[in-house]
Formats: sequence, C-alpha cells, structure tokens
Amino acid sequence: MKKMLLVAIICSATVYVWAQTQKPAKKSIAQSPAASAQRGAGVYKTECLSCHQADGGGVPHLNPPLYENTDVVGDKKKIISIVLKGMTDRIPIDGEYYGNNMASHANLTNQQIADVLTYIRASFGNKASAVTAEDVKAVRGGKKA
Ligand code: HEC
Repeated sequence: MKKMLLVAIICSATVYVWAQTQKPAKKSIAQSPAASAQRGAGVYKTECLSCHQADGGGVPHLNPPLYENTDVVGDKKKIISIVLKGMTDRIPIDGEYYGNNMASHANLTNQQIADVLTYIRASFGNKASAVTAEDVKAVRGGKKA
C-alpha cells in the first residue's frame, strides 16, 4: 500500500514538472523608452505618416507638423486625448490653421498609443518624456488593454 502511494506521488510530481515546462513563456513587452519608441516608429508608419509625413513636417494648411509643436512636447494627456478622439477643432496650432480632419485612433491598444506618442516626442528634434500604457489607460478609462 505504501509503495502504491509512493508511485502515485512520483507520478503526480512528474506530471507537475512536465506541465510547468509546457507553459508558454510569458510575453513581456519591453518597457524602456527606447524600445517603446522603436515600436512606435512602426505604428507611426501605418497610422500617422500619410498625414504628418515621414519627417513629421505635416502638410501646410492641411496637417500640422509634429515638430516645433508646443502640444506634442507638452501635456501628455492632451495628445493622448487627441489620438483617442481625433481632432476636428480648427483651432490655431502654434498660430496656424489646418484644414484636414484627424480621425479617432481609439482602435489602437493603450500600448500602441503610448509607443507612437513616445516615438513622436523623441523624434524630429523633439526631446520630451516617454508616454506609458498606464498614462493612456488613465485618459481612456475602461478596460481596453
Ligand atoms: C487623416 C490625416 C491624419 C492622420 C492619419 C493623423 N493625423 Fe494627427 N492631425 C491631423 C490634423 C488635420 C490635425 C489638426 C486638426 C485640427 O486642426 O482640427 C492633427 C492633429 C494632431 C495632433 C495635435 C497637434 C497639436 O499641436 O495640437 C497630434 C499630437 C497628432 N495629430 C498626432 C497624430 C498621431 C500620433 C497620429 C497617428 C496615430 C495621427 N496624428 C494621425 C491629421 C492626421
């Protein structure tokens, strides 16, 4: 009887160890600003470049430039909100008006928005702090990752 118990213990221990090795490695997203900006460059290409251009220069009277731009290097909450809601305000941006409409990009994940904003805040001559997924979550609210 004791032998049976021992065999049972060894079997379950073996299964336990095997199960541990089968767990997929937890996918962690590198949180350093450099890694975030690098991912953000990819998001920028697909989501923003067509309007704000590769060099962030925008298009005169249509799409604002993202450099020498007070908002881009200013309060994170404001630009997070613009990416989430879009912008059709027709208010002057550093003294200029832009006639195009920016659509909402709320379909992007908090991490993607953090990455693209970290990218633009560290590119085109900008030198502002990184934006994190937590920052985006705080503005968006709700449960979206
Ligand atoms: C369809 C063209 C278009 C796309 C795509 C687009 N934008 Fe815009 N963006 C605009 C326009 C136009 C404005 C200004 C709207 C206005 O003046 O009402 C703007 C405004 C902004 C502003 C605010 C600038 C300021 O100084 O207040 C930021 C920041 C910005 N866009 C970032 C982004 C990012 C990041 C993406 C990609 C995720 C993106 N935009 C995609 C056209 C676009």
